[in-house]
Amino acid sequence: MAVLAVAVFVALSSCAVGCSGSTNSTELMLWRMEDQPLAVRLAAVIKEVESLRCEQTTLQQQQQQQQQQQQQSALTQTRRSSREDGAQEKVAGTHMFTYGSHDDEDDLRSPEGDSRRRGDPCFHYTVLDQAWRATNTTSKFKMCDRNVKWKGWYRLFYNGKSIQMPERCVPVNKCGTHSPLWLSGPHPKRRQGIVTRSVCGHWKKRCCAFRSNPIQVKKCRGNYFVYKFAPPTSCYLAYCADINTLVCGRCRRNQSCVSRDKINWRCKTKRRRSSKKVHFFASYPGQLLGKVNRIKYSKVLVNVGRGFNRRTGVFKAPVKGVYQFFFSTQTANSGLKTDLWLVINSYWVAVSHTHIPRRSSAGSLSTYMTFLRRGAKVYVTHNCGRSWASASSTTITFGGSLLVQMR
Ligand SMILES: *[C@@H]1O[C@H](CO)[C@@H](O)[C@H](O)[C@H]1NC(C)=O
Ligand SMILES: *[C@@H]1O[C@H](CO)[C@@H](O)[C@H](O)[C@H]1NC(C)=O
Repeated sequence: MAVLAVAVFVALSSCAVGCSGSTNSTELMLWRMEDQPLAVRLAAVIKEVESLRCEQTTLQQQQQQQQQQQQQSALTQTRRSSREDGAQEKVAGTHMFTYGSHDDEDDLRSPEGDSRRRGDPCFHYTVLDQAWRATNTTSKFKMCDRNVKWKGWYRLFYNGKSIQMPERCVPVNKCGTHSPLWLSGPHPKRRQGIVTRSVCGHWKKRCCAFRSNPIQVKKCRGNYFVYKFAPPTSCYLAYCADINTLVCGRCRRNQSCVSRDKINWRCKTKRRRSSKKVHFFASYPGQLLGKVNRIKYSKVLVNVGRGFNRRTGVFKAPVKGVYQFFFSTQTANSGLKTDLWLVINSYWVAVSHTHIPRRSSAGSLSTYMTFLRRGAKVYVTHNCGRSWASASSTTITFGGSLLVQMR
């Protein structure tokens, strides 16, 4: 029963953010609650308890994660901010914490990942879960975000589910206020980083009757946004949460949330242009003596992407990208030096050199990695010496792979 009592208290006080100074919001909320039938009130309380429990678990998990990673500076900052704004934070019913996304678990373990996260608002934001901000609520409240001490970054939620600001004009008296604030401009893409966006307040049939202070927005991995809210220019203005964007929280990682009309949103699977695969491996099944301008590796074992020509012995890069090549030989001679060169676009770029004074034999393998444009020509020249191979030894070889395709 004690838990229920606490939950009721939190549920009541959670509305207090944004309420105008003169309005006693607790009274408003009390009046509202009592107005409801008992069953509805009980259901609301149970729901609140559930959501609190869920939040508690999340918080505990995150706390453990934090301790493990010893993100000391982040912790210190959180403590400092909660001390300064202690009262404000509690009244707002929001929680400041470091948020760990599951998408970046590799990053989490690396020191670079840690330092990148430290300043990233995608991992350091305040949860703003206030159902009255939803675009489908018509209430008698008049909230004013001018009275909120905004600090740092915020992520919008609706009953624990991720939600976005509307990018369209919202009818007046929605979002728990008189003039609902919407983002006049599209949410950014992830590669755009932090962007600044204008904010409009709808009033008296004018969608941008109030040109409110601009805010900053960032898209995060996992299809959510964080906002750096600023106090609006006047009362009663409040930031909205577009109920139609709840669907965006369910988009998969390879999807993005899209809308033509900015009213209906849906998850759309990103079309991924598959990158080309290029691999080849060929050998020369005989002996080479002295100067051979271009080794015609006639035994082709692999030729994925058809970049290698067995007739000419030339590899032609089918796409732009980073390639790695290797070429090898086996020499058996006394006093002779044997040089094989890798030739790219007529430049001799790498040598496989052997010089054996006594009668013995040695294998030699050289590799080379480079950036190539489409159509670049690569082959191997036998400049001097003697190379040995039999039909089955695979000792004089030439191969390569496309490592990264570029566009
Ligand atoms: C607003 O939309 C949510 C989600 O669809 C729904 O659960 C809620 O009942 C709606 N509220 C109103 C007042 O229509
Ligand atoms: C998107 O990811 C899901 C799993 O998260 C997978 O089942 C689906 O095949 C992927 N779609 C594309 C087009 O890659």
